[in-house]
Amino acid sequence: MDLRNAAYIPQPAERHAPVSAVVAEATLADVPVLAALQARARGGAAAEWADRIHRACSREHSLVVTAKVDGETVGYANTEFLPEHPVDHAPAGYYLTGVTVDPAWRRRGIGGLLTRRRMDWVRERDSAVWCFIAADNRPSLDLHREFGFRHVRTGASFHGAEFACGEGRLLRADPPRGRET
Ligand SMILES: CC(C)(COP(=O)(O)OP(=O)(O)OC[C@H]1O[C@@H](n2cnc3c(N)ncnc32)[C@H](O)[C@@H]1OP(=O)(O)O)[C@@H](O)C(=O)NCCC(=O)NCCS
Repeated sequence: MDLRNAAYIPQPAERHAPVSAVVAEATLADVPVLAALQARARGGAAAEWADRIHRACSREHSLVVTAKVDGETVGYANTEFLPEHPVDHAPAGYYLTGVTVDPAWRRRGIGGLLTRRRMDWVRERDSAVWCFIAADNRPSLDLHREFGFRHVRTGASFHGAEFACGEGRLLRADPPRGRET
């Protein structure tokens, strides 16, 4: 996994007010700007990101979302159904993948909005929501914990994705009590 984690700052000295972003399903017209955002935030070539995002937008059982502030694209995230992996045996299910917020727009609630939107979409289809996160990505681990994700197991790869730090965490969020489908 090629990722540049945000610096881990659990208690920032200064905070921006939360921003009012519009979260919507991405269309193919969004692909170039989403690819540029991914290349800027995570590294790699925009053309490769464009291919990946184009495929994600065209896949069945998947949802790609964007977050925009006054028309500016500031965030991106994926959700897709993955069958059980034949090698690392990560379970079948709906997975949240690839959430990225433009570094200039972080810590204003946009990652949370993208997560909530995708969890609502999954819960219309299945009760469990899954994700996997590099063990050293503490900002993302904290974000997902706030949305009810709990540790299932640790591994060197999940669904074929390896982690630059050597280890990742598989997490699952179950519906709040009384809301099981
Ligand atoms: C992880 C990421 C998506 C978070 O986006 P964001 O818009 O900044 O997140 P939010 O503002 O919604 O933060 C929600 C909570 O997540 C946690 N969090 C987010 N960024 C954090 C940071 N840098 N340090 C510590 N905790 C953090 C906090 O608990 C935060 O709540 P708080 O602000 O009330 O303390 C963003 O940092 C990012 O794009 N990182 C690089 C890509 C990445 O690692 N993606 C995740 C792959 S699994």
